[in-house]
Amino acid sequence: LKQEALRELAGVSSQQELSELRIKYLGKKGPLTEILRGMGALSAEERPVIGQVANDVRAAIEAVIEEKQAAFTKAETEQRLQAETIDVTLPGRPLPVGAVHPLNKVIQEIEDVFIGMGFTVEEGPEVETDYYNFEALNLPKDHPARDMQDSFYITDEILMRTQTSPMQPRMMERLKGAVPVKFISPGKVYRRDDDDATHSHQFTQIEGLVIDKGIRMSDLKGTLLQFVRELFGQRTQIRLRPSFFPFTEPSVEVDVSCFMCGGSGCRLCKHTGWIEILGAGMVHPRVLEMSGYDPVQVSGFAFGMGPERIAMLKYGIDDIRNFYNNDLRFLRQFAHL
Ligand code: PHE
Repeated sequence: LKQEALRELAGVSSQQELSELRIKYLGKKGPLTEILRGMGALSAEERPVIGQVANDVRAAIEAVIEEKQAAFTKAETEQRLQAETIDVTLPGRPLPVGAVHPLNKVIQEIEDVFIGMGFTVEEGPEVETDYYNFEALNLPKDHPARDMQDSFYITDEILMRTQTSPMQPRMMERLKGAVPVKFISPGKVYRRDDDDATHSHQFTQIEGLVIDKGIRMSDLKGTLLQFVRELFGQRTQIRLRPSFFPFTEPSVEVDVSCFMCGGSGCRLCKHTGWIEILGAGMVHPRVLEMSGYDPVQVSGFAFGMGPERIAMLKYGIDDIRNFYNNDLRFLRQFAHL
């Protein structure tokens, strides 16, 4: 029996065969079990002798099975290690990293310039009340200037803000008459325009407001000059032209010298050497009053600009829709900036 088992075991080539042989020789129905079960029929002298032989045979078979099992396990481990080898010298796969959108980048740059001048950055709601968007800015219900801004109304009293200017009365109310008021407020605004290369029904603005004792037009001029020089270069000039906004008096439109062509005049500045970048003015006394500030005690200036326009000038972008279409071929050009 032992000879036969060892011969068979020597020929096994798989774990499967090995476990079959284990069952065949050592299992409950195997020959060894049968012999041990038949021990009761033997004489007292025969029993220990036969028992001894059976146990020896069993031990010999078990030893060979164990040895084979160990060899199989080792071979299997080696095979796995072989298959799972990692070549650490292979070049890595690049992980795509996002970049800040060019419009957000320009907004951040503008914020940084004003933060450097002591302004805080405040954000307000895009869904606005008629009161803050118009009334508190000196545009009563029947004011003709309301036509200038075709609005998305949600109800009679609620609309998508058409400008960031409602942040002026909102912040004044929040500060309850305290000075200085000095913040900028970037955010989205909405107008009922048909989208084309220069119009979008949704775009961004950055509002600015300063109120304190003795604020004058020269403060507005100096602040804006400092701003454009930090953004466009130290040689940039500004030019103020009279304009009209219901919430400022006097009101101005502000041009910068054409930094794209060194002020000599080019297609972008319509050959005048100047290009408009923002609206501004001294805060109207009525606006101060309505939000709890005394126009005899304090005065202020406000300004509003469109980051899209500034980004378009800065980077020579000719279609505003580029900012919203998320075409990666467009966006990738700004990823390194
Ligand atoms: N809110 C004005 C606009 O949208 C811009 C502006 C802001 C003008 C502040 C003056 C003062 O056109």
